[in-house]
Amino acid sequence: MRDEILAHQLPIEKSLRQLLDRRRAQSTLRKLTTSPAQAVDFSSNDFLSLSTSSILHAAFLRELGNSKLGLGSGGSRLLDGNSSYAEDLERDIAAFHRAPAGLLFNSGFDANSGFFACVPQPNDIVIYDEYIHASVHDGMRLSRTRQRLSFAHNSVADLKSLLEECKRNNGQIEGGQSHVFVAVEAIYSMDGDLAPLKAIVELVETVLPRKNGYVIVDEAHSTGVIGQYGRGLVCELGLEDKVFARLHTFGKSLACNGAILLCSPLLRQYLINYARPLIYTTFLSYPALAAIRVSYTFFQQGSTEPLALHLKMLVRTLFNQLQTLMTKYGSQNATAALISVPSKCPQSSIFAILTPQPRSLAKHCQDGGFVVRAVVPPTVPVGSSRIRVCLHAGNTTEQIRKLVERIDDWISLQLGQQEAENNGLGIWAEKARL
Ligand SMILES: Cc1ncc(COP(=O)(O)O)c(C=O)c1O
Repeated sequence: MRDEILAHQLPIEKSLRQLLDRRRAQSTLRKLTTSPAQAVDFSSNDFLSLSTSSILHAAFLRELGNSKLGLGSGGSRLLDGNSSYAEDLERDIAAFHRAPAGLLFNSGFDANSGFFACVPQPNDIVIYDEYIHASVHDGMRLSRTRQRLSFAHNSVADLKSLLEECKRNNGQIEGGQSHVFVAVEAIYSMDGDLAPLKAIVELVETVLPRKNGYVIVDEAHSTGVIGQYGRGLVCELGLEDKVFARLHTFGKSLACNGAILLCSPLLRQYLINYARPLIYTTFLSYPALAAIRVSYTFFQQGSTEPLALHLKMLVRTLFNQLQTLMTKYGSQNATAALISVPSKCPQSSIFAILTPQPRSLAKHCQDGGFVVRAVVPPTVPVGSSRIRVCLHAGNTTEQIRKLVERIDDWISLQLGQQEAENNGLGIWAEKARL
């Protein structure tokens, strides 16, 4: 059968198949999967469990019925896709996050790729955290800037030496005629750690006193869960006037789709003119806008505050239980080589549980009815394969207890297997000596 397929394949399919086979051989082949309906979600980015909120569902249906707008948007926002509904929503969201203006995009990916493709100019430099999202990379690749430099993850010291080097080597940066864009995320998706944003903003201001340093903050994972009413990290730190642009995406805590780039009115106008992922695409449909409106109303009314509080309690619970688990195994080398859990309580609901056998651990958890995913290079650096456990406001302490029990079970199985193999090897070695 396979031979028959191979005989009929087009030349391009032969190349594509080879590339896929290479991934398969490296165990990096990606696949679409679905999770059993009754499985417990320890994976999605639905941090506040809003996607299953019956109150939000009902509010969404009411909002849909309230407007005379058609279902589809009808075209690009620059042609027939715009509406006063979209403009009001955009203004209200910007005001909620205390920004002077905002521009809606169909997705966070479009917003990042659009911004980084068109805002940096040929003599400008983009400096980004090495863990920055793929959408920033795609934008930078399309941009006219020739210099893109990464700094070590969350290292203010490394960023400082890069900024100073840029200034030393480029008179236009020193003189303020060219610009440096610094791209960071508020919370990083794989480690769940926060950017040292205050220190980064202060550093950029100090090294580039001519105000030609611009910090751009991606708040995809912090939207809805950090700061009062979930306004995000920039608001929480009072840095609204110090960052150049912020991205809030709606696909995670808000249980919707789409994104907003918060910026000055001038930058907004520039993006409307130059950001291709905004210009050459059909704008968000009315139901998508209605869903965003309803979720933001929820946040504005403070209805998500108890959920965010409950989530914090769950984070502490999982952290404590993982610590207890590791204490149980003591400081055995075999356990340390098998698994490591965060040593400090995460500031977000994302836990990276490192193991060289992430697929085996993920499968064991999945077989126990928990949705967790293995994350391997190139998504994370070599040597930091893991399962990513993401908590949600809808999780219960009982579910957490059972998950930790399942991880415990896996550790004992692995250690038992290792011991059996070692004993087997011992017998072999003895036989060899005889
Ligand atoms: C940090 C970060 N930025 C941007 C995006 C893209 O956002 P969206 O899913 O709305 O395209 C994501 C999510 O996938 C993300 O995690």
